[in-house]
Amino acid sequence: MAIRNIVKVGDDVLRKICRTQLNFDEKLAILLDDMAETMYAAEGVGLAAPQVGILRRVCVVDIGDGLIELVNPVITEKSGEQIGNEGCLSVPERFEEVKRPMNVTVRAQDRNGNNFTISAEGFKARALCHEIDHLDGILYIDRL
Ligand code: NI
Repeated sequence: MAIRNIVKVGDDVLRKICRTQLNFDEKLAILLDDMAETMYAAEGVGLAAPQVGILRRVCVVDIGDGLIELVNPVITEKSGEQIGNEGCLSVPERFEEVKRPMNVTVRAQDRNGNNFTISAEGFKARALCHEIDHLDGILYIDRL
């Protein structure tokens, strides 16, 4: 595993639409391992592939209750509303209040290509929305 460099706001790579991950291979496993290590080293609660310069629909989230690896995630349901503080490892030393759904359901694939669904509320729902936004080139500061 290796800690990768986190791209900062202003870099075009954060503004691209990421491509679907089609290969569930060793390269994806290494990317996911590196992304988790990079997220933990930076004390973040989530990290998306474009933040390490990879334009693929891959992200990781851990709000403190375990690592979630998401490949090709899609929000299939959302409800309610919450306003809370949000930050981003690509936007250093800045935190702003952002409106997000209170509840989301996300469909994704794991590192082996198996489909799964996860439902989350509150801060976890916020983290999932934030990371999935990254895959479409959206930063939380766009939602202020
Ligand atoms: Ni972010």
